Amino acid sequence: MDADLVIVGSGFFGLTVAERVARELDRKVVVIDRRDHIGGNAYSEDDPETGIEVHRYGAHLFHTSNETVWEYVNRFTTFTGYQHRVYTHHKGVVYPLPINLGTINQFFGAAYSPDEARALIASQAEEFDTATAANLEEKAISLIGRPLYEAFIRDYTAKQWQTDPTELPAEVIARLPVRYTYDNRYFNDTHEGLPTKGYTHWLENMADHPNIEVRLGVDFFDESQPLSKASTVGQVPVVYTGAVDRYFDYAEGELSWRTLDFEREVLPTGDFQGTSVMNYPDAQFDYTRIHEFRHFHPERTEYPDDKTVIMREFSRFAERTDEPYYPVNTDADRERLQAYRGLTAGEKDVFFGGRLGTYKYLDMHMAIGSALTMYRNEVSPLLGG
Ligand code: FDA
Repeated sequence: MDADLVIVGSGFFGLTVAERVARELDRKVVVIDRRDHIGGNAYSEDDPETGIEVHRYGAHLFHTSNETVWEYVNRFTTFTGYQHRVYTHHKGVVYPLPINLGTINQFFGAAYSPDEARALIASQAEEFDTATAANLEEKAISLIGRPLYEAFIRDYTAKQWQTDPTELPAEVIARLPVRYTYDNRYFNDTHEGLPTKGYTHWLENMADHPNIEVRLGVDFFDESQPLSKASTVGQVPVVYTGAVDRYFDYAEGELSWRTLDFEREVLPTGDFQGTSVMNYPDAQFDYTRIHEFRHFHPERTEYPDDKTVIMREFSRFAERTDEPYYPVNTDADRERLQAYRGLTAGEKDVFFGGRLGTYKYLDMHMAIGSALTMYRNEVSPLLGG
């Protein structure tokens, strides 16, 4: 084999390590991915009927306060000035999110000042004590009171988990932010935007180096192909960004995930909902959100004005054959993860990273930041950097 490093997975984690090894160390890297495209879950494509860029695995908004990551990502793409805002459709009325003074005043038909709104929510939240809340419902009420919980959280959470919130552990939510201002910007980070020419252009730029070879449609566990686990581990260093339980053939049990199903539709209108993401918290709708992709790029004048593409999002527990999206993180999962961490420590020259390899929800900037750290502390020293 003429590669100095094999990377399993061409998502942001894998490509960041590949780019650094290829460019900074001038060593040869082969990246394999079982999908037929580069980029992992951040992959986007132009919808064939409308030309509108669609994020195939759910909406991806880039944001970071990490200056090292911001400097690094700007080597491969420029960013638009897009700022994310989300709205929610409850009983035929649209409210701004995250819950803020605008949401509260609209919901209660009032003109509360920040102090008045704070006092109201505090009194409504007295029904339960956060410290002793027995389930998700009690905890949510102890944080924001029953009226807001029942309108915006209860049925949305039930749809996300396919479980009544009274049956979900309190730990599923750590906090429920309420803003006592009219600020409804979704992210608070220093930098925010979308890649000007799209995610796939950015991801391809990262892989565009003579020392990087990307092989698509190749599964690490398929022993009939030359870069399988059996033929690489022990022969060449491996960065593995697939699922950690799969690597060990589920020896310590399966880690549980939630997955999403997406239903894409082209509609004969130039604008379906006037914004990029609308939540649907009520039980009467099976989906949790609708994404309308044209609104991510209002600057793109080439988009048609008589068609739009939307994607309805549905949430459920993942089976082994589904795409794993969000770690469920039950107590049993945490115990299994500990056991897998013990096993990973015994795998010489195999580095486990990314969201699947560490069983952690990572935003893109976190995946890139942790890949830069792994490169600097582990991969580069091993390869003589
Ligand atoms: P990623 O999953 O992208 O890549 C792993 C790759 O490994 C995949 O391409 C997979 O095919 C491959 N692979 C796995 N097993 C393999 C095997 N056996 N053989 C070969 N290849 C294998 N972040 C953010 O900053 N803003 C946002 O708005 C969002 N939105 C968002 C929505 C949804 C629905 C999800 C699930 C996630 C987000 N994210 C996000 C998070 C973002 O997707 C995440 O940070 C990156 O995908 C992390 O990149 P990784 O490389 O770790 O994994």
